[in-house]
Amino acid sequence: MAKKKTDTTTIEPLKFSGAWDYAPAPESTGHIKLEKRYGHFIDGKFVEPLSKKYFATYSPSTEEKLADVADGNAADVDAAVKAARKAYNGEWGKMPAAERGKYIYRIARLMQERSRELAVIESMDGGKPIRESRDVDVPLACAHFFYYAGWADKLDYVSPGRKPKSLGVAGQIIPWNFPLLMAAWKIAPALAAGNTVVLKPAETTPLTALKLAEIIRDAGLPAGVVNIVTGAGATGAAIVNHPGVDKVAFTGSTDVGKIIQKAIAGTNKKLTLELGGKAANIIFEDAALDQAVEGIVNGIFFNQGHVCCAGSRLFVQESVADEVIRKLKDRMQTLVVGDPLDKNTDIGAINSKEQLATINKYLKIGVNEGAEIYQPKCSVPSKGYWCKPTLFLNASQSHRIVQEEIFGPVLAVQTFRTIDEVIEKANNTPYGLSAGVWTDKGSKIFKVTQKLRAGVVWANTYNKFDPTSPFGGYKESGFGREGGLHGLLPYLKFD
Ligand code: NAI
Ligand code: MG
Repeated sequence: MAKKKTDTTTIEPLKFSGAWDYAPAPESTGHIKLEKRYGHFIDGKFVEPLSKKYFATYSPSTEEKLADVADGNAADVDAAVKAARKAYNGEWGKMPAAERGKYIYRIARLMQERSRELAVIESMDGGKPIRESRDVDVPLACAHFFYYAGWADKLDYVSPGRKPKSLGVAGQIIPWNFPLLMAAWKIAPALAAGNTVVLKPAETTPLTALKLAEIIRDAGLPAGVVNIVTGAGATGAAIVNHPGVDKVAFTGSTDVGKIIQKAIAGTNKKLTLELGGKAANIIFEDAALDQAVEGIVNGIFFNQGHVCCAGSRLFVQESVADEVIRKLKDRMQTLVVGDPLDKNTDIGAINSKEQLATINKYLKIGVNEGAEIYQPKCSVPSKGYWCKPTLFLNASQSHRIVQEEIFGPVLAVQTFRTIDEVIEKANNTPYGLSAGVWTDKGSKIFKVTQKLRAGVVWANTYNKFDPTSPFGGYKESGFGREGGLHGLLPYLKFD
C-alpha cells in the first residue's frame, strides 16, 4: 500500500521567542599558559629571530593581544632550512622507519594529552567556536598523526614494486582557518615519508603551531626534524624561494597559490596546492529535508564559513525550495553568534579585521547585484569581528557572490528543475574542491557525483573528514591530495 505523504507545507512555522537562549557556558582559560613572546622553533629549541622583529597575534573576539611572535626574514628561514637539512642528512635520515613511526605516534599521544589546552588556544587565537576546535580540529589533528605513524614502516606498500625514497626538506605554508589541523595534515605525512620540515603558520593564528613545537620538543624528536618559523607573506615567500627546499606544500588563497607556482617554475621543487573553493550543496526534492537543512547549516555557517570546502552555493530543487528556505530561515534564527569559548556558540568571530572587511564588501556586492539578503535577528558582541549568518536568495550564476570565494557565513541560494541543469550550474565555477548531494536515491547520488568536477563529494552529509581519505581539488582549487595513501605520494619519489 502506498504510504500517504504528509503535506508539511501547511504546518505553521515555529516561532522562536527566546526558547533558545542558553545560559552562558564559557570554557575556562585559567589553565592556559602563553608566553609573552615567542621566537622561532629552529633546531629543536625556541630562538630569537635574526630579524629582531616581532608582531602581535590577537583574539578576534576580544581584540586583546595574546602574544608577540617572531617575524621571520630570509635569514631566519635560512637557519631553519639548514637545521632541517642537517637533521635529514643526520639522525632522522638514518633512523629505521619503525623508529620514525614511534616518534610520530608519540606526538599524537602528547597532543591528545594536551587536547583541551590546544582547543582553547585555537578558539582564542582564531575565533572559532570551542565546540568545533574541541570536537573537530584537535581530534582530527591527532588522528592524522596516528594514521601516518602507521605508514612510516610500510612505505614499500605505497606503490608495490617500486622503491620509495624521501625528498629531503619540505617547506610548508598553512592558512588561518584550521591552524593546528593544517599543521598536522602537512607535518604527519612528511615525517612518515622520512622528510624534515620547515612550517610557517598564518600570521593571525600562530599559537597552536608554537604549542605543537613544544610537543614536538617534548616528544624528543631529533633537533631540526621539524622547524616552525612565524611571519606573514614575506616569510612564506622566503621558504618558497629557498634553494634548499625540495618540496613546497601550500594551503591558502588561489592568488598566492598562483604566485608560488610561478616562483618555483623551472626549479626541481615538487609542489602541492590546496586553494579556494565555491562548493555546490545540492538538495533534491526527495531528500530528507530536515537533515539537509542541518547539512546546509553545517556546511556554511559553522566555523563562520572559514572553510575552503564550505557549501557556499545552495541549489534547491524548485518543488521544495519554499519549504527548504523556510526551514533554513527558522534554523538560522536559533544559531548562536558570539563568544568562541562558549560551548553554546555556533558561529564564532571572523578571523581578522581584514577578513571581515572582505566579507562585508561581498555583502554590499550581493545587494547591489540584486540578490535578496536575509539575516536572522540576533545580537552580536560590541567588541571583536562578527558576521551574522546570511542568505542571498534569488542569486544568479553571473553574480560575483556566486562565482567568487567569500570565506564567510554567506550562502548564495539558487533553484533548479532537472539533474542536468544543476550539474551544469554546479560545475560553472573556476573552482572544484568539494560538493554535497542530498537525495533519497542511491542511483541519483552516483549519477550526480560522477559528473561533478569536485575533488570531494559528500552524499547526505557534509564536511566529514577522515585521515584515511584523500582531499584536494580540480581546476583553480589546486592539485595534489592530502590525507590517506594519496597524501604520502607528494612526499616520496620512486626509483
Ligand atoms: P593567503 O593565501 O594570503 O594566506 C595563506 C598563507 O600563505 C599564510 O600563511 C600567509 O602568510 C602565506 N602567504 C601569503 N603570501 C604569500 C606569498 N607570497 N608566498 C608564500 N606564502 C604567502 O590568504 P589570506 O590573505 O589570509 O586570505 C585571503 C583569502 O584566501 C580568503 O578570503 C579566502 O578566500 C582564501 N583562503 C583560502 C584558504 C583555504 O583553505 N583554501 C585558507 C585561507 C584563505
Ligand atoms: Mg590571532
